[in-house]
Amino acid sequence: MSSIEIIGGKQLKGELKIQGSKNAALPVIAATILNKGISKLKNCPRILDVFHMVKILEELGCKTSWEENTLIVDSSKADVTCVSEDFVRKMRSSILFLGAILGRFHEVTIAYPGGCSIGKRPIDYHLNAIKKMNVTEEFLQEDGSMIHCYSDRIIGTDIFLEFPSVGATQNIILTAVLATGVTRIYNAAREPEITEVCSYLIGAGARIRGLGTAYLEIEGVKQLQDVEFYLSPDRIVAGTYMAAVAAVKGDVLFTHTPVRHLDSTLHILQKVGCRIDVNSDQVRVRNFQRPLPVAVLNTKPYPGFPTDMQSQLMTVLTLAEGKSTILEEIFESRYQNVEDLTKMGARIQLQKDTNAAEITGVAQLHGAVVRAHDLRGGAALVIAGLAAEGTTIVHDATYIERGYEDICRDFLALGGDIRYCSENRLDS
Ligand code: UD1
Repeated sequence: MSSIEIIGGKQLKGELKIQGSKNAALPVIAATILNKGISKLKNCPRILDVFHMVKILEELGCKTSWEENTLIVDSSKADVTCVSEDFVRKMRSSILFLGAILGRFHEVTIAYPGGCSIGKRPIDYHLNAIKKMNVTEEFLQEDGSMIHCYSDRIIGTDIFLEFPSVGATQNIILTAVLATGVTRIYNAAREPEITEVCSYLIGAGARIRGLGTAYLEIEGVKQLQDVEFYLSPDRIVAGTYMAAVAAVKGDVLFTHTPVRHLDSTLHILQKVGCRIDVNSDQVRVRNFQRPLPVAVLNTKPYPGFPTDMQSQLMTVLTLAEGKSTILEEIFESRYQNVEDLTKMGARIQLQKDTNAAEITGVAQLHGAVVRAHDLRGGAALVIAGLAAEGTTIVHDATYIERGYEDICRDFLALGGDIRYCSENRLDS
């Protein structure tokens, strides 16, 4: 695992282009299995999670290559229907291959994902929905660690999700695209990354209606065809860097930003006192004062405030002039930064019964040796380090490389004093 060293206190200034979206790329990469041909994915971020998904594609028999940020996948010779335990344990999003492999081969064997550091993250919604589509599911091992799903004919049906789960919605879509008949998803997730995978599939010949709404209709087609698809910029990476301006102070112009998908984040950044100017796909964020507190910040499914931005806003609010409360409503264990931020001088009280974090802002954080526990939490500690007085070391920074192409390069370009402390950073 690599570490990041930051000497805090430098304001952020300049211009930064936002990378392609991780959470759009991962389901689209899984979806390439459904297309017995070539998929060209442009603006694909070169991050560890993507490299991991590409390794799985190769295990399944696909050919892959890169041309700068374009990932080319040839799925015509794919012939393996099993995703090994190692892969799923390493990265939970591998579960998206469940729907994609099942949809193409009518059979899949995949490890049951365990919990991860931000919460239990079960897959009951995925499996309950898929079972309704004339798919049989059996556990291959007594401990329930491997699932085998198969069907002689996948049949579209009506599916009511009890919660708008992003992964379950994507897995149902992937199972339904080549199925017989029509699948209707009620209470589907509305995250932009659902629209993204649908748009890729439609480009390849799928029939999907209701994009961007909680009601999706997928009419099965016989096959998909070669497709070129441009992945949107990453709304969470953009939000992370904007939150950094709020905490560290400065004046930054972000280019290639997914403005439409940033509404709740921009709204909160305005609330904490940032000046935001939007022009086409560019967003200028300015802040030269201590952040203002936010009475209550709840995480919600889209279009609510994203759980993936919660840790970064927590860092901002530790520096606010007053008290704020965060209510994490999506993942139960997403407060792992509290101990590290406290080490840096933050004042945060966790209320176990309500899952609330009560934050009393301090005028200054100070540098410390801290540890990333997950991807977004790690990025939030980097923001804290940039804002703090003195030197901060963030250990286990490999978590951050799962989702940010090069967080040090980006903050360095904005005037931050930041570097990786070890070599062989990306093991692609
Ligand atoms: C996706 C995103 C992740 C984001 C999350 C919520 C990707 C690769 N990951 O994760 O970055 O934080 O959406 O926006 O796009 N749940 C169940 N049973 C299930 C499925 C989910 O109980 O079968 C629960 C989860 O434990 C969690 C909640 O539903 O509490 C939301 O999970 P979900 O929307 O499925 O998130 P992911 O798809 O895992």
